[in-house]
Amino acid sequence: MDACSPVLVVAALLLLLGASAPTASAARAFFVFGDSLVDNGNNNYLMTTARAEAPPYGIDFPTHMPTGRFSNGLNIPDIISEYLGAEPALPYLSPYMRGENLLVGANFASAGVGILNDTGVQFVNIIRMAQQLQNFQDYQRRLAAYIGEEAARERVSQALVLITLGGNDFYLVPFSARSQQFEIHDYIPFIISSTRKSSCGCTSWAPVA
Ligand SMILES: *[C@@H]1O[C@H](CO)[C@@H](O)[C@H](O)[C@H]1NC(C)=O
Repeated sequence: MDACSPVLVVAALLLLLGASAPTASAARAFFVFGDSLVDNGNNNYLMTTARAEAPPYGIDFPTHMPTGRFSNGLNIPDIISEYLGAEPALPYLSPYMRGENLLVGANFASAGVGILNDTGVQFVNIIRMAQQLQNFQDYQRRLAAYIGEEAARERVSQALVLITLGGNDFYLVPFSARSQQFEIHDYIPFIISSTRKSSCGCTSWAPVA
């Protein structure tokens, strides 16, 4: 009898922990902006060649199916969401981006984009940063319609934001007319100064470099 007690205690603790595990809406909201390193399916909804909807994408994902993530498995935003104790924020273009799901946050990222507007031209139809920020405004209106202005402002101001951007400005360099105009030592400062421009409209975020 006594020998069982520790087991029971552990089981009870697990139950307690389970009961107090954060729900999607209790965790802070999470917003993701950027390129294919963090896109989790937006490009599937676009007429673009930059998509990840076929194997081997997704082979190590829990469902073993392609999801639109440019990864064999979970990507960085998924892992951050796990730490937040929340479901992954849905792609902004998902038809399920409504109701309760709005509370989790949103992923605005689009594979192929860069800091420069002319990075990724070969993919024709991708969501460049200015548009991602526009979509963020639209998201906030939808959230406010769901939980009220005040609560929406509160939720957004407490949120975690991830911006993963810039790799394509170098990786896709041979395709960008703009990059052809620069020597590499001039191109890098140009990209850095453009970073400020491409995140205009958002006043309080600081790039981590
Ligand atoms: C990209 O274009 C938008 C307008 O469409 C502009 O607001 C933004 O500053 C441009 N970004 C860069 C880095 O030039």
